[in-house]
Amino acid sequence: MNRILITGASGQLGSAVTKLFIGSYDILLTDFVFPKDGKSRFEKMDITDENSVRKTIKKFQPDIILHLAAMTDVDGCELNPQKANDVNVRGTKNLLEHFDGKFVFISTDYVFDGNSGPYSEADTPSPINEYGRSKLLAENIVMDSGNPWLIVRTNVVYDYTENTQASFVKWVVDSLRNDIPILVVNDQWNNPTWTVALASALIEMIEKDFLGVWNYGGAEYIHRLEFAKEIAKVFELNKALISPCRTQELNQPAPRPLKGGLSTKKIKHAGIEPYLLRKSLEEIRKKMTL
Ligand SMILES: NC(=O)c1ccc[n+]([C@@H]2O[C@H](COP(=O)([O-])OP(=O)(O)OC[C@H]3O[C@@H](n4cnc5c(N)ncnc54)[C@H](OP(=O)(O)O)[C@@H]3O)[C@@H](O)[C@H]2O)c1
Repeated sequence: MNRILITGASGQLGSAVTKLFIGSYDILLTDFVFPKDGKSRFEKMDITDENSVRKTIKKFQPDIILHLAAMTDVDGCELNPQKANDVNVRGTKNLLEHFDGKFVFISTDYVFDGNSGPYSEADTPSPINEYGRSKLLAENIVMDSGNPWLIVRTNVVYDYTENTQASFVKWVVDSLRNDIPILVVNDQWNNPTWTVALASALIEMIEKDFLGVWNYGGAEYIHRLEFAKEIAKVFELNKALISPCRTQELNQPAPRPLKGGLSTKKIKHAGIEPYLLRKSLEEIRKKMTL
């Protein structure tokens, strides 16, 4: 059984990955602050602390590192680029400095400028914000590491669980349920990706020993307003509470790539199908009512 060390296990994607990987792999979950579920092995590890990284890797001796941990707050990265660099770039470097096995890194469509998405794996990155720049620098470190590596780029990852503060679905559902009107941009295009779909694609990619750069995203290329309306429809909530706006009106610290998103042509060709948005949202709703 492969030993996999998972960073960022308590995050949005980490939670879905952990649920799916338990049983198939010998896993060690690592985090800043980690939850204890009584079933998995946990180790506290701050990826910016090289000593803690070295000790954890030495103790667990993983075959694979699945590196999900990151500073994902896009505006936070813009306001504190030093921290973004410490976590996203130096954190990745620390792991690779003490590990020579297979390294799986999750990256983002924010490595692109958003002028001409959806982007293929062959397109040239050109990030327009600090988050995107830090993730691209980390990608380059992975590519130059000499380890066998897999980089999976994804975008607008969503789910609804208690520890998913950053999820667009959670924000829309919670707001509409509480009769709070929301403004949603109609000029940011992506293919939103359900955590569970991405987690099962990741298992398949690891089992089939995929290497190199691969995109994985949802089946529909839509703008954020359309996404919000679809959520309202599936959750039977009042879509009149959703009003359109332009990204520019929000005055956010970090510029956003507008025509972002990722082409899934290559991965479909390799036999891994992206999930449909409606089906994913229905699954999430079903889970919530269980
Ligand atoms: N969310 C998206 O839409 C999206 C899109 C494209 C790519 N991605 C990439 O997918 C990956 C997973 O994202 P996510 O949505 O699951 O993010 P998330 O919910 O924000 O989780 C990030 C995880 O990283 C951990 N972390 C942060 N700083 C750390 C440090 N110094 N040392 C150790 N752990 C640290 C966090 O732990 P604490 O909670 O304890 O701080 C958390 O478990 C990231 O690499 C992200 O860049 C995400």
